[in-house]
Formats: sequence, structure tokens, C-alpha cells
Amino acid sequence: MAFKTIAQLFDLRNETAIVSGGSVGIGKSIVDRLSEAGAAVVIADIDIEHGEQTKKEFVDKGRKVEFISTDVSNPDDIEKAVDFSIQKYGSLDILVNNAGIFPITPALDITESAWKRVMDINLKGTFFFSQKAANKMIEKGKSGKIINIASIDAFHPTGNLAHYDASKGGVVMMTRSLALEWGKYGINVNAIAPGGILTPGATQSSAEMIKASAMKAEQITEVGKAFTARIPLGHQGDPDEIATVALFLASGAARYITGETIIADGGYLLS
Ligand SMILES: NC(=O)c1ccc[n+]([C@@H]2O[C@H](COP(=O)([O-])OP(=O)(O)OC[C@H]3O[C@@H](n4cnc5c(N)ncnc54)[C@H](O)[C@@H]3O)[C@@H](O)[C@H]2O)c1
Repeated sequence: MAFKTIAQLFDLRNETAIVSGGSVGIGKSIVDRLSEAGAAVVIADIDIEHGEQTKKEFVDKGRKVEFISTDVSNPDDIEKAVDFSIQKYGSLDILVNNAGIFPITPALDITESAWKRVMDINLKGTFFFSQKAANKMIEKGKSGKIINIASIDAFHPTGNLAHYDASKGGVVMMTRSLALEWGKYGINVNAIAPGGILTPGATQSSAEMIKASAMKAEQITEVGKAFTARIPLGHQGDPDEIATVALFLASGAARYITGETIIADGGYLLS
């Protein structure tokens, strides 16, 4: 295997990536890092307004970024997003399954439709996006990288998120299953399990927690402080602290890693 310099390992100029849920939050930071490394990136997100805004923000910086309206729970939308990426840029080399929802609800109150929605987006969406992308990678005879965004909740429950925790546990195991089956095609499948990351979704979650628990805002602040106090590195994560891990997994530097889940939580699970 030809030796590559560090610059070559992280050079994604000949690569095309799809980032689901790339309009805001962790996904937007991943779009930022992958496009900075030179990749052409397609944002596949259900949020059209923020998706178009994010696309413009990066295009204005000279990056190659496109947006396609996509609901990852709908396999037809997934197919359109993958076909769009191939039509636009000729290939699909990197898929980041980042779109996810985390509606705070006590287990006793989770309805069948809420359970289904969480599974359809977080687990089914991740599976069918991966399947569609892998088929195209194999068809083109190219290797590929699939990166799934799981959560520390796959290993440790936060509370009031039984459906979410089950979906993210599923994402971790599915990552290993797909890595086992698709290694022979040169497709690396890995996951990242973020800890508490400050994003629009996390802010909304705090608001839902207030509603679900009848807690006052000050009590929620205390819960937040207690959470942060448990983090050995001393702060909640910035979305870029996940995006740089995604960049590593998408790069040539991670070429011999597959089926792994990298926990990026500032050490929260250690405490
Ligand atoms: N923020 C955290 O603390 C945290 C911790 C662990 C894991 N995660 C995971 O990271 C990922 C991103 O989280 P975030 O905090 O940035 O969330 P966010 O809510 O801030 O952003 C999520 C993005 O996904 C999009 N999305 C939602 N449903 C979609 C659908 N059906 N189809 C396509 N796009 C859809 C949203 O429009 C949004 O742009 C999620 O999978 C989440 O479970 C987040």
C-alpha cells in the first residue's frame, strides 16, 4: 500500500459525501469539516429552510455543498438523495447517518406512533440509507465510508428516552453487522457515540424535559450542572468535537478501523 502523507490522508477533494440531518447542529459541523477537507457534500435534511441557509453559508465560503429535501424515514427520499449525489458529483464515497430525533417522554407515556417515529428515523433511516449507499459504492467498484451517529445513550440511559436509547443501541449493533458484511467491498462502517453536545436539538430537549417532568427552569439548570460536573474534561461538547471525529473516520487515517463505535463524551461514561 502506497505511503500517504498526513495531508494526503485528510485530503477529501476527490470524495463526495452525504450528511443526513446536516442543516443544523452536529450534522452542520460535519458538513463544515468534510467540505473544508475538500469533499463535495450533500445535505439531506427534512428542514428545508435551515438546509438552504446552511448550503448558502458554505457555498459563500467557496465550498462544494448542495441540499436536498429528505425525510430519512422514507426510503423513496433516501433513494432520491443518493441518486442526486451521484448525478451531481458522479459518486458517493462517504455517508454520515446523523439525522436523529430524541423526544423526551417517560416510558409509561410513549405511544406506539412515537415509538415508530423514533425507530423509523434513527434506526430504519440509518439502515436503508446505508444499504442504498453501499449498493452504489459496490456498483461503482469503489471503497466507501459509512459513519453512523449513535449516542452514549446506547450504553447508559439518560432517562425518559427508552425508545431513543433502544434505537441508538440498535445503531451500534447494526454498525458492527454491516461492517462484518461489507468489509469485503472495502466499505468501512463505524459509529460515533456523542455525549451531551450543545445543539438546537439539545436545547429543545431541555424544554421538553421541563414539560415532561413538571420541573422548573432552575431545576433543569441544576440537572444540566450536575451532568456537566460528571464530565471529566469539564464541559459539554461543541458540535465540532464530534465533527472532527467524523473527519477522522472519513479519512484515510482510519482505513483499518471498522465496526467500531468511538465514544466522544469528554469522559462522561467513566464517571
Ligand atoms: N446533541 C446531543 O447531545 C447528542 C448526543 C448524542 C447523540 N446525538 C445524536 O446526534 C445526531 C444529531 O443531533 P443534534 O443534537 O445535532 O440534533 P438537532 O436536532 O440539533 O439536529 C438534527 C437534524 O436532523 C434533522 N432531521 C430530523 N428528522 C429528520 C428526518 N426525518 N429526515 C432528515 N433529517 C431529519 C433535523 O431537521 C436537524 O437538521 C442525532 O442522531 C442525535 O441523536 C446528539
